Amino acid sequence: MYPFPLSLFPLFILLITLFLSTPSVSTNQHAPKIQNLTQPITNMNPHELETLFKIMESMSNDQNWRTTHQNPCQQGSSWLGIECKKSNLNNMYHVTRLDFGTHPNPTCKKTATFPSLIFQLPNLESVFFIQCFAQTKTKIYVQENRVLSSGSSSSVLQQLSLKSNPALVGIIPPQISSLKSLQILTLSQNSLLGQIPVELFSLSSLVHLDLSYNKLTGKIPDQIGNLKNLVDLDLSYNSFTGPIPNTIGQLGTLQKLDLSSNSFTGKIPETIETLHSLNFLALSNNKLSGNFPKGLNKLQGLQYFLMDDNPMFVTLPKEFSQLQKLQELRLAGSGYSGKIPPSYSRLTNLTTLSLQNNRLTGEIPVGFSGFLHMYHLNLSRNFLAGVVPFNSSFLKRLGRNLDLSGNPRLCLSEANGVYLGVNVCGSKNSTSNSITMPLKNKSEASCGLIRSLFLVCALCITVALYPLLFFA
Ligand SMILES: *[C@@H]1O[C@H](CO)[C@@H](O)[C@H](O)[C@H]1NC(C)=O
Ligand SMILES: *[C@@H]1O[C@H](CO)[C@@H](O)[C@H](O)[C@H]1NC(C)=O
Ligand SMILES: *[C@@H]1O[C@H](CO)[C@@H](O)[C@H](O)[C@H]1NC(C)=O
Ligand SMILES: *[C@@H]1O[C@H](CO)[C@@H](O)[C@H](O)[C@H]1NC(C)=O
Ligand SMILES: *[C@@H]1O[C@H](CO)[C@@H](O)[C@H](O)[C@H]1NC(C)=O
Repeated sequence: MYPFPLSLFPLFILLITLFLSTPSVSTNQHAPKIQNLTQPITNMNPHELETLFKIMESMSNDQNWRTTHQNPCQQGSSWLGIECKKSNLNNMYHVTRLDFGTHPNPTCKKTATFPSLIFQLPNLESVFFIQCFAQTKTKIYVQENRVLSSGSSSSVLQQLSLKSNPALVGIIPPQISSLKSLQILTLSQNSLLGQIPVELFSLSSLVHLDLSYNKLTGKIPDQIGNLKNLVDLDLSYNSFTGPIPNTIGQLGTLQKLDLSSNSFTGKIPETIETLHSLNFLALSNNKLSGNFPKGLNKLQGLQYFLMDDNPMFVTLPKEFSQLQKLQELRLAGSGYSGKIPPSYSRLTNLTTLSLQNNRLTGEIPVGFSGFLHMYHLNLSRNFLAGVVPFNSSFLKRLGRNLDLSGNPRLCLSEANGVYLGVNVCGSKNSTSNSITMPLKNKSEASCGLIRSLFLVCALCITVALYPLLFFA
């Protein structure tokens, strides 16, 4: 029996060799599949991909981003709020846009804070965080002068829009000036405070600057004149003080300037006449006073001039009548006296004219009846007198958008169906309405005084009687 197994020995070796080699061959065949499952081949730089996942994980709970979008820059990826572009250099994709906060973009979780990691994404061009930071207080943190991996040494970020984030607090960091390519900077409706860092005015590529609805303070530095490409400047609803700087006149391409609802003082600077492209100017609710600039009539592109509620106390400037494109002129609550210039009738494109709450005297210019586009006319609470020059079709067209009330000496030549707060000329009531109004206010005030005196007395009596109660 011995030779038999001996003769089979080579076959045995062969079988063993085959047995051992077969699995190793099959392992080699399956290797790419296993690799694909565990670490997908992406079209991105792994470092950039990792940074993106870290940002996503810190910001949003909507999905487990690593598993649901293993290759976020893939064509047809369903990851909303992100945009990628292919680099010409290495065929790699880079993140160029991030958009968080509002549907359908990824929503922010309660613990989300400002992710300064975004400044490590080398090709990021635009960032939006809208209604994102609402619960956890956080500050803007910009990493300065980082040498970026793409080889360029400066940021390519063109748009930074942080809007409606009540928990975004602190100052605007001076390091924001390292974002040299910035064209659009929107920081409105946050809780930012302090002064605008002067470094911000070195961002000479800025086209749109919106810092409205924050708690910013201090003066506007003269360096604002450096922003030569600015088209849109909105600093409204803050607490800025001091004068509007003369250098504002250097912003030759400015189309929209909104400085309303601050505490700006002094005059409107004369230099404003150089803003030839201006079509929207809002200065309402400040502490501006004094005369208008002489060159006001040079603002020939102006369609909106909104300047309610300033302590102006001058006469209405005739220059407005030369601004033929005006559609809205608001000059209410600013102590204007004298007559309404009849030349204002030339502003045939006016749709809104607000002159209420001033000290205007004289008659309503007859030419006002020719305002064919007028939609809203408020002349209430002045000292206007005489016959209202509007015919019934004008009165009907404006309806309740015409307010002439609170002008005791104004009267209507005929009874109209529309309520105007104005009496018919010659009726006994002609002077009654405005005289009764202040009287009513006064009597209300004295009633209030009597009421509070009564309360104080009641309190005194109670205190005085308290010991009596105690002894009884
Ligand atoms: C990885 O595998 C999936 C299917 O499992 C396939 O759709 C995908 O194209 C593969 N990716 C690569 C880069 O090979
Ligand atoms: C008035 O408005 C019309 C229509 O909006 C416009 O075509 C026209 O140029 C305007 N007139 C002036 C003087 O701006
Ligand atoms: C009202 O006045 C306007 C402008 O003066 C005029 O065009 C219109 O014909 C007048 N309408 C009536 C009913 O008198
Ligand atoms: C006119 O202005 C007064 C005072 O500001 C305001 O109370 C009134 O509602 C305005 N009227 C119209 C029609 O807008
Ligand atoms: C005078 O005023 C009273 C109350 O304000 C009002 O009821 C009455 O209709 C008015 N009369 C005229 C002629 O307008």
